[in-house]
Amino acid sequence: MRFGASLLVVPSLASIAFAAIGQAPCISFSASAGSFPIVASGKAAPIITDPSDSPSVHRAVGDFVHDILAVASTTPKAVNYTSPASVPKGSSPIIVGTIDTPLIKSIITAASLNVTGLTGQWESFVAQQVSNPISGVSKAYVIIGSDRRG
Ligand SMILES: *[C@@H]1O[C@H](CO)[C@@H](O)[C@H](O)[C@H]1NC(C)=O
Ligand SMILES: *[C@@H]1O[C@H](CO)[C@@H](O)[C@H](O)[C@H]1NC(C)=O
Repeated sequence: MRFGASLLVVPSLASIAFAAIGQAPCISFSASAGSFPIVASGKAAPIITDPSDSPSVHRAVGDFVHDILAVASTTPKAVNYTSPASVPKGSSPIIVGTIDTPLIKSIITAASLNVTGLTGQWESFVAQQVSNPISGVSKAYVIIGSDRRG
């Protein structure tokens, strides 16, 4: 999963969001209707992963945190999910993971996500805003990879 490169050429920003266009996590430098804020009012959304996910997923998250710091002068908090209490209270997190990890499986069930298009695919992913993905979290931006390199 790579979203980094295009972020690095842009000077300091007040607002960064995932745009609500298509399935790919397209990054926009202004908030718009339906977009999901990565950084809003100088505050970055936390990034949640499953601790059992692959090193490449954890590495991608590390790169993303670094890229956000470079352009927005704020660092998203990266969190390994163990229970709903591990999600910073009141936040709208970005959740990243592989389809077969416990965290992503529970979100697919909780939010009745249709991941038919991902199953059996090699190196693909879906990304979308999800309501109530985890107990106590009202919305999140969820990026699900089909395999550990997707
Ligand atoms: C989460 O756990 C994995 C596996 O132990 C580790 O590699 C990663 O650095 C951890 N990430 C955070 C944000 O603590
Ligand atoms: C789920 O998605 C697949 C293709 O990605 C589609 O063919 C199918 O109709 C969808 N199922 C539901 C219940 O929306």
